[in-house]
Formats: sequence, C-alpha cells, structure tokens
Amino acid sequence: MDVLINVFVALHIIGIASLLGGFLTQMKAMGAGTARFIPAMLHGALTMLVTGVALVGLNQADDQAVNNVKIGIKLALLVVILALVYVKRDDETVDKGAFAAVGGLTAANIFIATVWT
Ligand code: HEM
Repeated sequence: MDVLINVFVALHIIGIASLLGGFLTQMKAMGAGTARFIPAMLHGALTMLVTGVALVGLNQADDQAVNNVKIGIKLALLVVILALVYVKRDDETVDKGAFAAVGGLTAANIFIATVWT
C-alpha cells in the first residue's frame, strides 16, 4: 500500500508541476494583460483533484490519519482554481486579477500542504 500511496503522491506532484508550470510560463503575458489559461493548467488542476481524492481514500484504507481540516481547505481552494480555469479555458485573454488568483491560490495550497504538518 505504501508504494501505491507514494505513486499517487508522485502523480499529485506532476499535477502541481503542470498547474504551476503553466502559470509561470504566462507570467510575463499576465503583466501585459494578455495571459490565458493554457490546457496544461486545466489538466494539472484536474490531476490534483483526482489524485488528491485518491490519496485521501488510500490513506484511510491504510488506517493512516488524514488531516481533514487541511484537506478540506486544499479542496476548497482547488475548487476555486478549477472553476476559474474551466470557465475561462477558451478565453483568448484572461484579466490580470483572475490569472493572478489562480497562481496565488496554487502557491497557497503548496504552502498549506508542506508547512501545515
Ligand atoms: C492546487 C492544489 C493542491 C496542491 C498544490 C497540493 C499539494 C500537495 C503536496 C505538495 C503534497 C505532498 C506533501 C505532503 O505529503 O504533505 C500533497 C499531499 C497530499 N494531498 Fe494535496 N495538493 C492540492 C490539492 C489536494 C486536494 C484537492 C486533495 C484532496 C481532495 C489533496 C489531498 C492530499 C493528500 C491526502 C496528500 C497526502 C499527504 C497528506 O497530506 O497527508 N490535495 N498535496
């Protein structure tokens, strides 16, 4: 079970790479107000959701404690990220505020996941 959990943590991190990496490639464009949500960001956010839910299930099946408050906050932030990226996925340009919000919420989730032990 440990190996399976670790595989899903790895997939979870690949999801972060896709979501955050997509955001970082657009930062210059964001400054100019011409950024857009690229497919890697949507797929990364979806990967986070699927692997995150799987990790909760796997940890519980393995009798390992899951911090429900922490996971609940991460899930709530991800729902906002996913909603923004999904709704505006076909927009040629996304305004600075919405784009920055996705980057900020993603970074917040990374700090919540790592600093909150
Ligand atoms: C943008 C969104 C997210 C980011 C950036 C993120 C980040 C991370 C990181 C860096 C880890 C590895 C560090 C650790 O083991 O604590 C992790 C683990 C984990 N994540 Fe996420 N996560 C996100 C969304 C979610 C969601 C939506 C869920 C559940 C619905 C979730 C559930 C978990 C679980 C269960 C672990 C296993 C380790 C633990 O915290 O006990 N994550 N996440």
